[in-house]
Amino acid sequence: MLQVEELSLAEINHEIERRRTFAIISHPDAGKTTLTEKFLLYGGAIALAGSVKGKKTARHAVSDWMEIEKQRGISVTSSVMQFNYEGFCINILDTPGHQDFSEDTYRTLMAADSAVMVIDASKGVEAQTRKLFKVCLLRDIPIFTFINKMDREARDPFDLMEEIENELGIRTYPINWPIGCGKEFKGVYDRHKREIIKFEAGELANGQRAVAKEEIELGDPRLHDMLGERLSAQLSDDVELLDGASYDFDMEEVRHGKLSPVFFGSALTNFGVEPFLENFLQMTPPPLPRKSSVGEIDPFNKDFSAFVFKIQANMNKAHRDRIAFMRICSGRFDKNMEVLHVQGGKTMRLSQPQQIMAQDREIIDEAYAGDIIGVFDPGIFSIGDTISVPNKKFEFEGIPTFAPEHFARVRQKDTLKRKQFVKGATQIAQEGAIQIFQEPGKGMEEVIVGVVGTLQFDVLEYRLKNEYNVDIIMDRLSYQYIRWIENEDIDPKKLSITSDTKVVQDFRGNFLLLFTDNWNINWAIEKNEGLRLAEFSRT
Ligand code: G4P
Repeated sequence: MLQVEELSLAEINHEIERRRTFAIISHPDAGKTTLTEKFLLYGGAIALAGSVKGKKTARHAVSDWMEIEKQRGISVTSSVMQFNYEGFCINILDTPGHQDFSEDTYRTLMAADSAVMVIDASKGVEAQTRKLFKVCLLRDIPIFTFINKMDREARDPFDLMEEIENELGIRTYPINWPIGCGKEFKGVYDRHKREIIKFEAGELANGQRAVAKEEIELGDPRLHDMLGERLSAQLSDDVELLDGASYDFDMEEVRHGKLSPVFFGSALTNFGVEPFLENFLQMTPPPLPRKSSVGEIDPFNKDFSAFVFKIQANMNKAHRDRIAFMRICSGRFDKNMEVLHVQGGKTMRLSQPQQIMAQDREIIDEAYAGDIIGVFDPGIFSIGDTISVPNKKFEFEGIPTFAPEHFARVRQKDTLKRKQFVKGATQIAQEGAIQIFQEPGKGMEEVIVGVVGTLQFDVLEYRLKNEYNVDIIMDRLSYQYIRWIENEDIDPKKLSITSDTKVVQDFRGNFLLLFTDNWNINWAIEKNEGLRLAEFSRT
């Protein structure tokens, strides 16, 4: 009997050990979808390139559930894709990147153990990458860089490294180094193996065939013939410079997001994807411990625990269904097990637990630390909630509230619908789909709504109309920045601020300032000694 238990414990540990859960962050068009798709192809999870996100194909995205998503052909909320590759069980957290950028994109990063940052080689660090990167820094997780589109004209790789270091404040360590770019792109030099992997553009069979690679050492006389005089001389110079000047490779620094391993390639032509995936899977950690009210929770702890990082509402209009997405932080989940919803104080069974395997949602029987499951939510879960085994009550550290960047004044068209409006706006805000703010002393018949991505305004309007039968009037406001006032001993009414800065309160009663630009933020800081303003709220 004892033997069976020991064996199953070893099996559970093995399952957890092979999990790799990460998010891919990038600015729109850098190639996140293309890279994800190539990963899935390697894992055999999909058979055809072009089937992950059908921007131009007829198939819809994996998470195409909400009506509004179907109308627009985009995915509003992040989803997760799981597949196996070389013994690893990989969970890719999808972070929506186009117009559908929202707080869910940030929250999803809270569920990841590492991030892959895709950068367009001709553009360098762009706005959305910068924002997502900041959130990764909060978590102290490893960040890997894939510099994409080397088959096109690209910026100087040294410039790109410098930009990443200066703009993002992370050190870089190129694992491989590009040889030429665009029409002259010849391949990459692998710095550890000290050999060249040659790029040969060619027709891809369903995007599945890896590009032919030839491995040649740096001193090989054939190198000159292969690269030509100019590129072979440049490679020798570059390698010398890199060996002399770049940081040492320190795995501890990688683990804490201080040093980013950098890879060059071209997702579209499938070049550099396989070496990236292989190196990345070796370096990226299995499920990481999570902070909680009783200290760090070890993922290998046999007791199941999880936290809710996203709630997706109204997937079926007729039922007002909600799905709560949770990240399993420790142990093994079994669909028949009893769990404790800590914040609700109730013991329960999780209903219809499901997982997304590449393209299909499946009802699952079991899952392990590192996995993401979506469970049917009758309206009891909130973002950040902890689920544990019944006799082990504790809370995971909460998910921060992120600063919205778009604001609108919202009120109901028909004043008789005030009650429904207040109920709808409050519930949607509690779900975390929008943030609502009030001017001190004013009632709820008019609120200021703040969102991270403007599509959230459309979702609010759609849901108030469809679920609460309320038409609204929405006036966009010119504020762009919001900051939480951290000082508890400051009277916000007495602050010295410019006429176009506004004091508001969130639903917890915290005071915040709305700014139209950075100049006004600096003014507030300069004119009010000791004022501490935060971009995230943890309360
Ligand atoms: P995203 O998810 O980060 O927004 O980017 P996505 O993968 O959709 O790629 C954006 C565009 O860049 C796509 O072209 C895609 O084919 C192209 N692309 C991605 N990786 C590479 C690369 O390594 N080299 C080159 N040359 N192009 C690349 P599109 O024409 O906008 O869309 P589509 O017709 O391919 O769907």
